[in-house]
Amino acid sequence: MTDSFHDATLPEGLHPQTLAVRQAIARSQYGEHSEALFLTSSYVQPDAATSARRFANEEPGYTYTRTSNPTVTSFEQRLAGLEGTQAAIGTATGMAAISLMVYGLLKSGDHIIASRSMFGSTIKLLGSELVRFGIETTFVSQTDLKEWQAAIRPGVTKLLFAETPTNPLTDVCDIRALADLAHNAGAWLAVDNSFLTPALQRAASFGADLVIHSGTKFLEGQGRVMAGAVCGSSALVQDKLVPFIRTAGFNLSPFNAWVVLKGMETLFVRMHEQSRNALQLAQWLQDHPKVARVYYPGLASHPQHALAMQQQGGFGGAVVSFDVQGETPEQQRANAFAVIDHSRVISKTTNLGDTKTTIAHPATTSHGRLSEEQRQAAGVGQGLIRVSVGLEFPKDIQDDLERGFSLL
Ligand SMILES: Cc1ncc(COP(=O)(O)O)c(C=O)c1O
Repeated sequence: MTDSFHDATLPEGLHPQTLAVRQAIARSQYGEHSEALFLTSSYVQPDAATSARRFANEEPGYTYTRTSNPTVTSFEQRLAGLEGTQAAIGTATGMAAISLMVYGLLKSGDHIIASRSMFGSTIKLLGSELVRFGIETTFVSQTDLKEWQAAIRPGVTKLLFAETPTNPLTDVCDIRALADLAHNAGAWLAVDNSFLTPALQRAASFGADLVIHSGTKFLEGQGRVMAGAVCGSSALVQDKLVPFIRTAGFNLSPFNAWVVLKGMETLFVRMHEQSRNALQLAQWLQDHPKVARVYYPGLASHPQHALAMQQQGGFGGAVVSFDVQGETPEQQRANAFAVIDHSRVISKTTNLGDTKTTIAHPATTSHGRLSEEQRQAAGVGQGLIRVSVGLEFPKDIQDDLERGFSLL
């Protein structure tokens, strides 16, 4: 969290793909090649006066891991380098990142506008929990700019918040257009980039002020630990969020930071390969007689395909969702369960972003805690299945889904 630990040995202007492997704090006195894991709660101070200056932020230096930790700093610097933001702050989970952003930047009476098709817990946090603290959220269509515009309350709306593509329906919003809208209203735009990571989309380069991550997903890449982050300018992250987390304690653990940091070294290779595998799967599903509809930004049939290709570096991402055929919601659900239950390779688990392909039924998992009204507004039907495509041989994944399809 402080510039004084920046690895000055790296030249300027390196490509993000290089930063994903190289950006971290400088090596310790032992010259370790792999980034060190600093598993410590506090730091020994040379003397009381130095300690006092460090606690007062008058001098750089680590004091207590709730304030900062070198391994967490390495993760933050690497992520900020990739996102192209001045700063980043690690958090315990992706939801902790969203909570940190809201509690650190907003106050009672402020207003948020958010897409109604976001991740279920995000909708729950904004739509149910924050109301108790006097922060109101208006939910609008992910893709209809006019709805965002109409929801703005001049002087009261402080944050526009979108996730693109959305979980699980992969709706894509125009980041640049939303940023302009937010800035004209004197508000910030935050974008949840968990689905694509900076390997495919750099939301700040399109004008987003804050970029949110569930590091639990693709950043980490192998489903081992929970993590999150908020990226943004020094004025927002260093001056507003860092002082808040120091008190509130939503921190990322050093061990988890280290696992994600090492995971990020393979980020570009994984994101490119998993996206290619996802496109193959989406194309196969699109022609399948037991599939009613496929949601994948890489398909030309996706409503925001052209925008997605421009924002996402020509890739669709690694998450594919689809509706199975069925006359009634009950039949759709039974068919979806049959496809999920007959898979033998794909993992039946709610996480995504893993090198192992995972499958989930959003209506009863990620969006299971929403009211029927919220779930319908999010467009999550009973026949919907979400697949996060991993690194297996693509035909094996198709064959695995076919085990269930063939029984319908
Ligand atoms: C888009 C998105 N944002 C945020 C989160 C929350 O992240 P975490 O589970 O790390 O709290 C998730 C989790 O699935 C997600 O899919």
